[in-house]
Amino acid sequence: MADTAKLILPDGQTLELPVVTGSEGEKAIDIGKLRSSTGYITMDPGLINTGACRSNITFLDGERGILRYRGIPIEQLAGKATFVEVCYLLIYGHLPDKNELSGFSTNLTTHALIHEDMRIFFENFSHTAHPMAILSAMVTSLSAYYTDGTGEANLEMLDLNATRLISKVRTIAAFSYKKSIGQPIIYPTDKLSYCANFLKMMFALPTEEYEIDQELVDIMNLLLILHADHEQNCSTATVRQVGSSDANLYASVAAGILALWGPLHGGANQQVIEMLEKIHADGGDVDKFIARVKDRNSGVRLMGFGHRVYKNFDPRATIIKKACDRVLNKSGKPDVLLDLAKQLEAHALADDYFIERKLYPNVDFYSGIIYRALGIPTNMFTVMFALGRLPGWIAQWKEMMEDPDKKISRPRQIYTGLGINPYVPRENR
Ligand code: CMC
Repeated sequence: MADTAKLILPDGQTLELPVVTGSEGEKAIDIGKLRSSTGYITMDPGLINTGACRSNITFLDGERGILRYRGIPIEQLAGKATFVEVCYLLIYGHLPDKNELSGFSTNLTTHALIHEDMRIFFENFSHTAHPMAILSAMVTSLSAYYTDGTGEANLEMLDLNATRLISKVRTIAAFSYKKSIGQPIIYPTDKLSYCANFLKMMFALPTEEYEIDQELVDIMNLLLILHADHEQNCSTATVRQVGSSDANLYASVAAGILALWGPLHGGANQQVIEMLEKIHADGGDVDKFIARVKDRNSGVRLMGFGHRVYKNFDPRATIIKKACDRVLNKSGKPDVLLDLAKQLEAHALADDYFIERKLYPNVDFYSGIIYRALGIPTNMFTVMFALGRLPGWIAQWKEMMEDPDKKISRPRQIYTGLGINPYVPRENR
């Protein structure tokens, strides 16, 4: 017999609720009939205890520091697979065979350019515009140019729209960087791989030969793979929320980009470097900074630390920290910010405040240091995160659209405002 949970309510009602068990043994109480049977709803600000969907894309165990895409441990993908293979894995559920990979890669190459008219948009953004503002606006604009299947959610066009997005977002990201530094844009090159193409569009000049550095390409593959999906995080939940109204894939992803921009989510990678720079400029006193973080009245957080789900360690942070050492050792240039970050980490991990709250470095703590070493400017860090998270957003959107039980996402509330409050005419106020 299936497990049930029994709920006893203050008015004496009791309700048997089915227990749902996931393939890794996680358990949930299905409250689908709670309101219609009893009149009660649940309260869960921040949705800390709420499972919003069943998903077979990503498994994450925060207590044991486990992250797997379609069952494959992140440690096995990082450093071995390419980002393009991982995109395919997340969206279609299995690693591509030779033919599937070559077909998918060819499609990405075919769709690398953006409509030439869209280039004008870059001219009209203020030079102070944050690249995330440009990216979200440009992704929304894609739905105005690639109109087949974009009126509303459309699964038949998913393959086409997914490849367009993955390929064009890379082009948009590089173009917005070129615009921000006043250099001519560099068009994509068909014969280059996904990451090599991105690096060339970012760093080449029309006046010079550009040589692809395979080590940079490998690091970029690694970083994008580590960011590729993370189950129901804030931006992915946003993509699902928007898509649940049958909004098209471009609109849903643009909303996800905006959710990612927040400093508590993807914007943290930029904040980490800015925090390290401030500590450095202030004399590099790590103890003083940690004391400020612990002071409740300061409002200061140790950016790049803590996670809603990981309460032990973030496996992505472990991989990035090692890559950081590799990149910086190879460059032979010591990075004062990396040293500061390591000191901060060591202090925090030995401090009761962080131990009691189970706060560990997350993916954003060291990623900015690598991006800097690659020559990527600070305000582009969250764009890099978006580029990585794109296949996850697409896979989750697709999974939701294919779910026969899909419903528009529409939470309830407990109203705490005034009772009936009669309108007072303007002249009597
Ligand atoms: N520095 C100092 N204190 C912290 C931090 C931090 N980074 N994170 C959490 N705390 C404290 C918090 O003050 C609270 O203390 P108390 O119980 O005394 O009130 C306790 O730890 C629990 O924090 P919370 O904010 O209730 O936890 P949450 O699960 O709602 O938030 C978080 C998770 C990631 C938003 C939070 O840890 C945070 O703000 N971290 C810094 C921003 C950051 O690095 N974000 C990137 C997250 S990983 C990548 C991604 O998802 O984009």
